[in-house]
Amino acid sequence: MPFANLLITDADGVRTITINRPDQLNALNRVTISELDQALNEADGDRGVRVLIITGSGAKAFVAGADIKEFAHFAVPEGKALAADGQKKLFDHVENMSKPMIAAVNGFALGGGLELAMSCHIRVASDNARMGLPEVSLGVIPGYGGTQRLARLVGKGKAMEMIFTAGMIKADEALQWGLVNHVVPQDQLLAKCNELAAAIMKNSPTALAAAIRAVNAGYEPGVDGMQREIEEFGKCFGTADFKEGTSAFLEKRKANFTGA
Ligand code: COA
Repeated sequence: MPFANLLITDADGVRTITINRPDQLNALNRVTISELDQALNEADGDRGVRVLIITGSGAKAFVAGADIKEFAHFAVPEGKALAADGQKKLFDHVENMSKPMIAAVNGFALGGGLELAMSCHIRVASDNARMGLPEVSLGVIPGYGGTQRLARLVGKGKAMEMIFTAGMIKADEALQWGLVNHVVPQDQLLAKCNELAAAIMKNSPTALAAAIRAVNAGYEPGVDGMQREIEEFGKCFGTADFKEGTSAFLEKRKANFTGA
């Protein structure tokens, strides 16, 4: 069934999910978050999908944040539930997807928009992009993982500054800070993301999923990332992809991975 607030396109193993509320600068309301949850589940279960790109509709915004109109009247329990549900359904879901997720940041990525981009495994920004966590200007704090993921990506000092000032940084500054991986002219944004996707898709899907789990493990409280790496590394030896990858190397041919 088509989504009310999402556009989905498939091309050569790459699924592009476009958040489609351009008149509201693609703000994340409840419906959009539920639809993204569903779209991610569908993509996870579809063997034809190897890499996902997530972007915003229109030339102005990736996502301008959580929908302020929807939560402006909330009290304490609803505020807490908003953050908990959103983190589970969308932000943690994105981060723990078994397939690589690329954020194509095509304009404003503010509040929940930057938090969504930070949940993705890779970020590519267009040169017009502006990023920030303006929540304290509204009397709240980032609630979709921003206090944690921003500090991990850019360090505690820069994260504190960005959160305290509620200011926006430009794409080139975000690149310098390590908040995004690449900056390209806006008309080349999806091409750059697809180029990255094509490079990724040459590799084993089972190994990619294991790599995501191993890298993420290092950021899970109480989890020994090195130990998880050993386990994931070992498990790879039992996959058909490992047999194919090593055989292809020894036979001097291109590997044909099946993701098994
Ligand atoms: N939630 C709900 N609606 C939002 C929104 C958000 N986070 N961000 C933008 N919109 C809506 C505006 O209310 C406006 O809708 P309207 O036409 O029904 O009034 C529409 O999107 C266009 O936004 P507008 O503010 O007119 O565009 P602009 O070019 O003047 O400003 C921004 C762009 C991004 C600077 C501004 O929209 C903004 O500051 N948005 C909020 C950012 C924010 O605080 N996000 C964190 C939320 S926790």
